[in-house]
Amino acid sequence: MRSYVIDGPCRLSGEVRISGAKNSTLKLMVAALMVPGEVVLERVPQITDVDLMAEVLEQLGASVQRDGSRLVIDSSGDLCEEAPYELVTKMRASIQVLGPLLARLGHARVAMPGGDAIGSRPIDMHLRGLERMGARFTTEHGYVEGASERLQGVNTLLEFPSVGATENILMAAVLAQGRSVIENAAREPEIQDLCAFLNKAGAHIEGVGTPTIIIDGVDELQPAKHAIVPDRIEAGTYAIAAVATQGDVTLVDCEPAHLELPLMKLEDAGAQIDRGDGRVRVRMEGRPTTLDLVTLPFPGFPTDLQPPMMVLLSQARGSSILTENVFESRFLFVDELNRMGAHIRVEGHHAVIRGVEQLSGAPVRSPDIRAGAALVLGGLCADGRTEVYDAGHIERGYERFVDKLSGLGAGVKLEPARY
Ligand code: UD1
Repeated sequence: MRSYVIDGPCRLSGEVRISGAKNSTLKLMVAALMVPGEVVLERVPQITDVDLMAEVLEQLGASVQRDGSRLVIDSSGDLCEEAPYELVTKMRASIQVLGPLLARLGHARVAMPGGDAIGSRPIDMHLRGLERMGARFTTEHGYVEGASERLQGVNTLLEFPSVGATENILMAAVLAQGRSVIENAAREPEIQDLCAFLNKAGAHIEGVGTPTIIIDGVDELQPAKHAIVPDRIEAGTYAIAAVATQGDVTLVDCEPAHLELPLMKLEDAGAQIDRGDGRVRVRMEGRPTTLDLVTLPFPGFPTDLQPPMMVLLSQARGSSILTENVFESRFLFVDELNRMGAHIRVEGHHAVIRGVEQLSGAPVRSPDIRAGAALVLGGLCADGRTEVYDAGHIERGYERFVDKLSGLGAGVKLEPARY
């Protein structure tokens, strides 16, 4: 394992190019399993989660070829039905193969993903939605096994706009017989990207980006080519880092419309934001003012930006309250941040953050992708040296994090971990 070593404090300035979205890429790769031909994905980030998903697809019988940020997936051969525990345990998003495999093969066997560092993360809504379409599931020996005749289009009302459940049901519905309607569907830009790709491949999906998605099933999808949407979470992380380090950073190749609420919150905290065509300039002078912030499904404030925002508010001029509504265990990294001199008290799904003038560098451990990136951000703001262990988590989701931060003037490097 390696660790990030940061010598702070540093002020970020300059331009940073935003990569394609991790959460979109992973689902488009899975959707390629439904296409009996070649799918070309462009602007694919070079991150380890994409490598893992490529392994999952290869295990299932698809061929995956990578050339820089271009990925060619060919699922025209015979596919196998089983996604094994060794892979699913490394990356939860593998559960998304369930709907596509059921739709294309009529059966699927996928390891139950279990919980992770941010919560218990059940898949009941995925299964209930697919069952309503005619799939039958058994769970045994840690695997969920599904079988079905051709899936039938139905109306599904989700009790919560889950990203993963919306995607699984949506993908299955594309090859089902008849019309499906998903109500209270998730509206995240990555789902809109998935629908855009599927429509290019011959699917009939309407209501994209609204809480009601209507899918008219088709018999087969065709080869298609698609460029991945910019990563709003990566962009948001750099925007928050610019404000936290009182810097001046321009995000290039991003989609400002997908970042509206985080940018508004940064303005409330005192930042100056200039929105352009595919660009956003973020400038900050002095410490941020306090904020009250609540995470919610899109277009609400994204839970994935809660950890970096916590770092920002840990240095605000006063006390802030941050409420986490999406994942129950997403405050686990707070103890690490407190080791860096932050004053944060967690009560249930609320965190009360009393701002301090400056964090102080310390060795800390990264529990997951976003909290890991947030701790690096803490290191950029802190006085002295910070070592963030378990760097592998961060590399799952941030393309060339060290290079991009170094390009903005940060004193950060990757080194073999000491502990
Ligand atoms: C996706 C994203 C993740 C992001 C999250 C919310 C990917 C690979 N990951 O995760 O980065 O933080 O959306 O924007 O795209 N739930 C259930 N039962 C279910 C499904 C979900 O109770 O069947 C709960 C979850 O435990 C969680 C909440 O619903 O508390 C939201 O989860 P969901 O929107 O499904 O997130 P993911 O798709 O897992």
